[in-house]
Amino acid sequence: MILVLFGPPGAGKGTQGARIVQQYGIPKISTGEIFRDLAAAHSELGLKAKAYWSQGKLVPDEIVVGLVRERVADPDCRRGFILDGFPRTVSQADTLQAMLEETGKRLNGVLNLRVEEPELIRRLSGRRTCSNCGATYHTTAMPSRVDDICDHCGNRLIQRADDTPESIHRRLVEYEEKTAPLIHYYEERGVLYHIDANEGPDAVYVKVQAVLRKIAC
Ligand code: AP5
Repeated sequence: MILVLFGPPGAGKGTQGARIVQQYGIPKISTGEIFRDLAAAHSELGLKAKAYWSQGKLVPDEIVVGLVRERVADPDCRRGFILDGFPRTVSQADTLQAMLEETGKRLNGVLNLRVEEPELIRRLSGRRTCSNCGATYHTTAMPSRVDDICDHCGNRLIQRADDTPESIHRRLVEYEEKTAPLIHYYEERGVLYHIDANEGPDAVYVKVQAVLRKIAC
């Protein structure tokens, strides 16, 4: 199964993706996570990309597609994979299509998580992430058991560098201008599934599962 988790910043792509990974046992490839890991390792590419993402701007296509091409060729992706945050431009979507055709694969579905803007801002402003294992929480909607401490590994929770009000605003603008046109792109190709993701994570996952059952048939 090859899936794209699609939606604006804060729609819950990472949250729902983690549940799909657990249930279906296929890897999730998050380009945002790859960039944050590369920056944390102080790699040249990682620092170059950080100059864009920390301000809420999209990282240039030529940097993104090379990383995704390498990652999907890894052996754990043979049975399928979930793309979280890729593609984000029409050019990236065309590249993905070409990549899949080269290897005789096809995209099974694009899950479009739809959330109202005030709720997106509320989610992003309250997000906390584990500095060690990357687990995601929300100060009110999905709090950790102990304040600022990860339930899974006991490390400190931090606020992402791009979850500042200025950066959130910029990310929402970038999404509308460069990424939202992909809704039409995938609608035309008959692989887009809209999911109302304004409710809590459990209720949204029930809807995600219903779509996945349909795709798997
Ligand atoms: P990326 O890491 O992909 O960020 P994003 O798309 O902005 O999405 P987020 O991770 O912010 O949100 P999400 O939808 O995963 O929501 P989450 O589950 O965490 O990318 C970061 C940056 O890297 C980009 O801005 C860009 O610069 C660059 N980049 C990445 N890919 C790129 C590409 N392909 N091309 C160019 N540049 C690229 O949930 C958010 C919060 O809400 C959490 O606190 C969570 O606990 C809470 N929550 C989740 N679901 C619910 C719910 N149902 N109800 C209540 N709370 C919820």
